Amino acid sequence: MSVLPPDDDKARYVAQMFARIAPGYDRMNRLMTFGLDRGWRAAAVSAIAPPHDARVLDVGTGTGDFVALLTPWVPQGLVVGVDFTVPMMHAGRWRHVDRRSQFVAGDALRLPFADARFDAVTTGFTVRNVSDIAAAFAEMARVTRPGGVLACLEVARPQQALVRLGHRWYFEIVVPQVARALGADPTAYTYLPQSARRFPAPERLAELIADNGWSHVHYWRVGSGAAAIHVARRHA
Ligand SMILES: C[S@@+](CC[C@H](N)C(=O)[O-])C[C@H]1O[C@@H](n2cnc3c(N)ncnc32)[C@H](O)[C@@H]1O
Repeated sequence: MSVLPPDDDKARYVAQMFARIAPGYDRMNRLMTFGLDRGWRAAAVSAIAPPHDARVLDVGTGTGDFVALLTPWVPQGLVVGVDFTVPMMHAGRWRHVDRRSQFVAGDALRLPFADARFDAVTTGFTVRNVSDIAAAFAEMARVTRPGGVLACLEVARPQQALVRLGHRWYFEIVVPQVARALGADPTAYTYLPQSARRFPAPERLAELIADNGWSHVHYWRVGSGAAAIHVARRHA
């Protein structure tokens, strides 16, 4: 049974869903990916290597995993995490006591920042949840200075047939059951594989990024193809 909302109701549905799962989000993430998600975010950040005085924006920051990773990179800079689900940022607030990092409430499709405000943008497991992926990348480009960089981490589907089958069984059967057993919201963890199936494959996502304000787009798969990291540069 599909739990995917219609596009015109997606923002409300997604915000309510993440508000419900916020307290257990980090634990489920670590469990679901066997802790690999941390290494994927670290790889995305290393790929853009923000300079020490960079201003970096993390879009759909959730509990702020990217913010925590980025902060040590920019001792003279600033890291801003933006999300429209305040309970997610609230659940991660204990990690962020550094004055170089901030959480801001806002929508990825209407970022509350001036043009060219940031040197770099990261986004992890977020664009799958927005109602208009192209508009989200265009909005990220708007707030990034020309020459600034983007790192996007998102789910993907393994290419190799057997791995793909195992991955499907794991995400569509095992994960919702584990979520239920742990008292997490099983609907949310059914939404995850269903939204992932609908999400553009990495090669198509690269095109979408390139068509919406970014150049030098490249990507690579991680986790046996379960996720992909896209890196790009803002048009000069
Ligand atoms: C799966 S979580 C990812 C959190 C974090 N980036 C990470 O790597 O774990 C997706 C986050 O995107 C946020 N989100 C989804 N659509 C959004 C939008 N249109 N504007 C702002 N935040 C959004 C959700 O509220 C949620 O916190």
